[in-house]
Amino acid sequence: MDTKERKNILVTCGPGLGDYLQTELKSLGFEIVSSHPGGIITRGSFIDCMKLNLYLRTAYSVLYLLKEFRCGSSEALYKQVSNLPWENIIAPEEYLCVLSRVDTFSINNSMYPSLKVKDAIVDRIYKKVGSRPDSGPDRNKVVVNLFWKNDKAWIYLNTSGLKLSDRNYRKMPHKAPLRESLAAGIIMATGYDGSQDIVLPMCGSGTLAIESALIAMNKPPAGLRSNFGFTHIKVFDEQIWKQMRNDARKAVRKGPPQKRIIATDIDGNAITAARQNAKTAGVEHLIEFNVCDFADTDVPNGEGIVIVNPEYGLRLGELEELEKEYKRIGDFFKQSCAGYTGYIFTGNRKLTGKVGLKTSARMIFFNGKIECRLLKYEMYEGTKNP
Ligand SMILES: C[S@@+](CC[C@H](N)C(=O)[O-])C[C@H]1O[C@@H](n2cnc3c(N)ncnc32)[C@H](O)[C@@H]1O
Repeated sequence: MDTKERKNILVTCGPGLGDYLQTELKSLGFEIVSSHPGGIITRGSFIDCMKLNLYLRTAYSVLYLLKEFRCGSSEALYKQVSNLPWENIIAPEEYLCVLSRVDTFSINNSMYPSLKVKDAIVDRIYKKVGSRPDSGPDRNKVVVNLFWKNDKAWIYLNTSGLKLSDRNYRKMPHKAPLRESLAAGIIMATGYDGSQDIVLPMCGSGTLAIESALIAMNKPPAGLRSNFGFTHIKVFDEQIWKQMRNDARKAVRKGPPQKRIIATDIDGNAITAARQNAKTAGVEHLIEFNVCDFADTDVPNGEGIVIVNPEYGLRLGELEELEKEYKRIGDFFKQSCAGYTGYIFTGNRKLTGKVGLKTSARMIFFNGKIECRLLKYEMYEGTKNP
């Protein structure tokens, strides 16, 4: 496999994150070939894929196209896949996982095509080198993706392996943590770039605060990861990867933070977890943690961003309590956050009516399967109570 050959790259992301992913791709100098509900297609080489894995904050996986072909049956699938030179891509000591998304008339589950692709790959390697890789469901080594729609099929090398939203810093979870890529998308939606104060009451395990700090420092999100799909591919060049990581390290902003990142939660255990996670991410020194009710959070004077991610409350009874909390969030914005742009991230539209403030924008995201809104509120200077 030629590591410099430019091909289509499908970068997948969670629903609602496509626009932010596009912005990221463009700012890294990648063209947008097309945009789809589950991701964006760009172009580049296997080496470009390594770069994308290091820098993308809102992506799930970076998939490098190996082959696209007409495919009308599982026999044709096997034949087409076996024609690829897998012995040059995967060593027999490696472990292989095949992921499939299939939407074709003749096949109604993706297990069988996955099996066919796996067989085609390992049979080919066995024939060429006399032994074959093990295979199974774990995606922590070599991962190959099949997409099969009607009579067209695509085979991609999944250069990420494990999802990029697994950054490796969240060692201590707390209740209802946001996925890291979603948290990064939320921060990007606010326009935060480190040149503003940012206040994060109800911070839970600290995901929004940590993602803010990574952005403020210009620290690559995957800096803590050493295991990617591409590190298990035969042509992987350790030296190029080392150089790429060194370049990223050099570009990290040094020195004391220019602006403040404040994260609070009423639950001491949440703050312990958030602090530990921030330490693992190497950004603990940038975040001011405090245990307190959100309404007592210290909001610096001037302009800034405040983001609250309250619970949504799916059980009755909880809802009544939460209605009061959402009203209190509105009061907090009005009374303590003048000059700030306030955001509430929630999956419960009924509760947002209780905030009592007019939204200036509503952005749709998905937290897992739950449709959520990031609601924006402008709090003008001059209304802050002493
Ligand atoms: C949905 S979780 C936030 C999850 C967080 N975004 C993360 O990624 O881990 C809501 C958090 O609000 C906190 N909380 C609930 N009521 C609070 C209050 N009155 N003041 C401050 N924090 C509160 C909870 O302890 C919980 O950690």
